[in-house]
Amino acid sequence: MSKNIQQIKSLIKKECSKGLIADWFFSVHLLGVEKFAKWLLSKLPKANKEIVMLGVWLHDLQRIRGLKGDHQKIGAREAEKVMKQFGYNKLTIDKVQKIILSHSCFNDQKPKTVEGKILATADAMAHYHNDFYLQIAVTGQRSLKGYKEWVLEKLDRNYNVKICFPFAKKKIKARHDLFKKVFTMK
Ligand SMILES: [Fe+2]
Ligand SMILES: [Fe+2]
Repeated sequence: MSKNIQQIKSLIKKECSKGLIADWFFSVHLLGVEKFAKWLLSKLPKANKEIVMLGVWLHDLQRIRGLKGDHQKIGAREAEKVMKQFGYNKLTIDKVQKIILSHSCFNDQKPKTVEGKILATADAMAHYHNDFYLQIAVTGQRSLKGYKEWVLEKLDRNYNVKICFPFAKKKIKARHDLFKKVFTMK
């Protein structure tokens, strides 16, 4: 991991402890995305590691900084500020912003580059390997019915849209089927 990436990881860890986001977000979500991004990079060695890892640490800045507005757009704007602080050039900043803008894979915002696909895939895979859904459940923000609907929509988008590589889908399938079973039980 480059020195910059290490420093950005520390900066984000510090920001996550400021109380604007749930205390588990760094350890449960971001470390999960890091783990799967590294796994995907090992399978896709031609991808640009620096772009992917910048995306890993900076893609959820809108949430981490507790900012209102579009998750992707505000996230990309905040990411630019951090990258400028670290002296990244315009080309790198543009590439990272693009993968942040497409990381949720909403309608017309699908990732086009391998780096964008890795970020979206890792972001989705992370939710299958820890207690993310339980952490959200205990916040009590939704009714049980509303919560189940929210989870099922997220599971479907994660598995069918965000996981861009068939080999990654294969790795997740058993867990995806199990989660679906649990959340459709009456
Ligand atoms: Fe996100
Ligand atoms: Fe994320």
